[in-house]
Amino acid sequence: KMNSFINNLLAKMTIDEKIGQLNLPSSGDITTGQANSSDIAKKIKDGHVGGLFNIKGVEKIKAVQKVAVENSRMKIPLLFGMDVIHGYNTVFPIPLGMSCTWDMDAVQKSARVAAIEASASGINWTFSPMVDIARDPRWGRISEGNGEDAYLGSQIAKAMVRGYQGKLQANNEILACVKHYALYGAAEGGRDYNTTDMSKVRMYNEYLPPYKAAVEAGAASIMASFNEVDGIPATGSKWLMTEVLRNQWGFKGFVVTDYTGIPEMIAHGMGDLQTVSALALNAGVDMDMVGEGFLGTLKKSLSEKKVSIQQIDNACRLILQAKYKLGLFTDPYKFCDAQRAEKEVFSPENRLIAREISAESFVLLKNDNNILPLKKTSTIGLIGPLADNTANMYGTWSVAALFDRSVTVLQGLKNALGADAKILTARGSNFLADSVLEHRYVNIHNPTYLRDSRTEAEMIKEALKVAEKSDVVVATIGESSEFTGESSSVTDIQIPETQKNLLKALAKTGKPIVLVLFTGRPLALKWENENIPAILNVWFPGSEAGNSIADVLFGNVNPSGKLSTTFPQNVGQVPLYYAHKNTGRPLAEGKWFEKFRSNYLDVSNDPLFPFGYGLSYTTFSYSDIKLSSNTLTKGKSITASVTLTNTGKYDGKEVVQLYTRDLVGSITRPVKELKGFQKVSLKAGESKQISFTISENDLKFYNSDLKFVAEPGDFKLFIGTNSRDVKEASFTLK
Ligand code: IFM
Repeated sequence: KMNSFINNLLAKMTIDEKIGQLNLPSSGDITTGQANSSDIAKKIKDGHVGGLFNIKGVEKIKAVQKVAVENSRMKIPLLFGMDVIHGYNTVFPIPLGMSCTWDMDAVQKSARVAAIEASASGINWTFSPMVDIARDPRWGRISEGNGEDAYLGSQIAKAMVRGYQGKLQANNEILACVKHYALYGAAEGGRDYNTTDMSKVRMYNEYLPPYKAAVEAGAASIMASFNEVDGIPATGSKWLMTEVLRNQWGFKGFVVTDYTGIPEMIAHGMGDLQTVSALALNAGVDMDMVGEGFLGTLKKSLSEKKVSIQQIDNACRLILQAKYKLGLFTDPYKFCDAQRAEKEVFSPENRLIAREISAESFVLLKNDNNILPLKKTSTIGLIGPLADNTANMYGTWSVAALFDRSVTVLQGLKNALGADAKILTARGSNFLADSVLEHRYVNIHNPTYLRDSRTEAEMIKEALKVAEKSDVVVATIGESSEFTGESSSVTDIQIPETQKNLLKALAKTGKPIVLVLFTGRPLALKWENENIPAILNVWFPGSEAGNSIADVLFGNVNPSGKLSTTFPQNVGQVPLYYAHKNTGRPLAEGKWFEKFRSNYLDVSNDPLFPFGYGLSYTTFSYSDIKLSSNTLTKGKSITASVTLTNTGKYDGKEVVQLYTRDLVGSITRPVKELKGFQKVSLKAGESKQISFTISENDLKFYNSDLKFVAEPGDFKLFIGTNSRDVKEASFTLK
């Protein structure tokens, strides 16, 4: 039925109208949702627009859709896209934080809520999930992805797609867009948009799996990345867009460029606008975001036989199919239900879900002497630029966030303590020193980004007075929302100096200090780890920030987040990741430095906090591993089990992690690879047997011919609480 409907439509369309469907302009300023170009309405009427993005508000979207379906010749409805990355009005933790939940139900639920809210507001296409593997915290967009690991990243990619799209039938199920295909997170030096270059073996084993997983989960669209891959910008790479994506993975949806991805190929050195537009279409790109290279040049290229009508038809067909699957041809206003928006957006139920998920994303990095949880009777000195800061609870890409509606830390603590609250506050410092601030990008979406006009010394003095009168100091410190995200790369990943000075002054008071750390990237926290007794990393928690922080600080929720990215000791170790190769000259375990070994003179090879790490208010012990057999025969499976015991005083959740190591391979293999995980709840004192099934499939990798194979031989298997602290067993694949 769909095919005949679309064939019928295509038969009636002019070349211009077909090319028009491939055009995706932006409506302009996302904060106001106003079109910045008065000619967009004309373009829509002329059939020169396939979709629009950055337009916000159900009534505005409805009005624009009306132009398309009533005033254009073919009456084809528009797609409405938006970067709904971690929630719509109800904002969830930034994706990097979300990935630290290791809870796929929670991840899927957050995408579901985001889709419900966005779809009620007119959006039928989200530019999410972002599944770029990133191992370089200098890169600002590490905050938007799921960390360093291909296996964890793949599970999250699938859960997100399922959450957004469901069956793509209901009026709250929207198109997902997997991005940024491919390797965007591997930019050299962590500098955004920079060159990437890697072997195919690494690409296939370590960077491509999450995109592939999202495609296999049925993602309806995929976004080309800005960077080059193997010397060709991804947007113009036929190998990526057709050979891998369609031929190898069987992708059936449509490919959209990133913002001006086509004209940017001119600066990459690939030719003029006509050349790069034809390059993109021939590569397998279907929709041109903002570049207007397709709109401006494809007709000419067709007449000059640089592109074929089949290619234009094919791209147009894929976009029409997406609209058809969404049900827009039956009801173009399916996603414009103001009444539904009223009821379902930022609802108490959604906010409660956000509150629970935020608390699950927090990673307890340190808790000496069990400072946490806090006693509710203590006098709390709440100090730092993030103590009462509504605008900076959300993190990057919070395009529909209600900036004055987030729950601040102060508010959250007050909510938890009620009338008995004994909280003293001080700002303590600005985010950055004035001299640095001038040069840094200040969030345009965030007009309430305030800078206190007092000097650093004056603010510290006030903070020390507050600390003096307090039983415990809660220092809310770290990055502001826009320190990470697009175009927010840095070369120094420490807490900014001005805030570190505050922490140093507070540390000298001898008061117990809990550092509540806001960040969108792994930071180098060597000094903090040596001098501050408790560190709770809360990333950017979203709408319910303060409530979920209070839930964890007072022990109503026991923290269970685990890092999805290694925290290095310093920036010089970057990239540092657990699944590294052994090299021919590995450093012996426990050593710092040995001459002629692969190491540094000035710092050990160890991370500060390894991948998979995160503490709880309780403690867990792991028994030795029991294997059902030491031999795994092809076509069969073995079971690896441990007994996990909650040995502490609190009920808690633990993420039990399974890793393997392939000891001998036709290509070198990582020292550990995550192969499974289970998040389990245990009451204080309770024990549970946790089992994993391992089959040949789990041991497969891409060899140097890019064949996905498992090679017979000896393997190690590890189960543990993080990638470093594990129990070990051995088996052989026959
Ligand atoms: O979806 C984004 C992408 O991640 C970065 N460039 C702009 C796009 C649309 O806003």
